[in-house]
Amino acid sequence: MTVKVAVIYYSATGTVYALAQAVAEGAASAGAEVRLRRVAELAPDSAIDQNPQWRRHADAATSVFQASVEDLAWADAFAFGTPTRFGAPAAQLKHFIDQAGGLWQEGKLADKPVTAFTSAFNRHGGNEATILSLGNVFYHWGALIVPPGYTDPVVYAAGGNPYGTSVVTGPTGDAADVAALEAARYQGRRLAQITIRLLAGSHVTDATSRDGAGRATGAAKISQTA
Ligand SMILES: Cc1cc2nc3c(=O)[nH]c(=O)nc-3n(C[C@H](O)[C@H](O)[C@H](O)COP(=O)(O)O)c2cc1C
Repeated sequence: MTVKVAVIYYSATGTVYALAQAVAEGAASAGAEVRLRRVAELAPDSAIDQNPQWRRHADAATSVFQASVEDLAWADAFAFGTPTRFGAPAAQLKHFIDQAGGLWQEGKLADKPVTAFTSAFNRHGGNEATILSLGNVFYHWGALIVPPGYTDPVVYAAGGNPYGTSVVTGPTGDAADVAALEAARYQGRRLAQITIRLLAGSHVTDATSRDGAGRATGAAKISQTA
């Protein structure tokens, strides 16, 4: 079974882009059809030009297709990446997400597996907070959060973040090193594999007891003694 995975990210200076590529590779290695998409840059040139690394990456990033909400409708599963901004997701990614209200209303974001990854300058600068903050969005969607957890040794090797792959870019960090990229690949592969299992089981009949109006009337098969 082929599943469709959208890897959607924002990156100013390239770190999260490297993670996004690795997540996409991991999902593709599990047989998924993958769309790797960057969200639109919102910062003015005057801000970008103050940081040569940002300017370089902004110019290079135009080779990646820009994300549209149609990618969210298309995908069976999502992976979102963003650098930490004061302990929260970047406004650029949030701006994209905030265009998904129509899809949310139509129920087209519900029941889809989702995972997230990030990067911060400081070891304790907000990596976990950023991913958990994105989790609030996923709860609202009724999406199915697929964290790496501690399900594979590569998670430990990359710093042991069970919420999602994260890298520290400052002097005490390792940037997007081999271990982080391996963890990101694993995260993408795990997302695709769980999506395959979910969709393969979607033919199973819903056995919930329902009344005449289609309302669930409770499970008929609860046993307290065996
Ligand atoms: C406005 C702004 C806010 C930031 N806030 C934080 C922060 O709260 N904690 C932190 O460790 N790094 C912070 N950073 C640094 C970035 O998150 C970090 O450099 C990240 O690795 C960049 O990822 P990228 O290369 O994909 O853009 C901030 C950077 C900017 C420009």
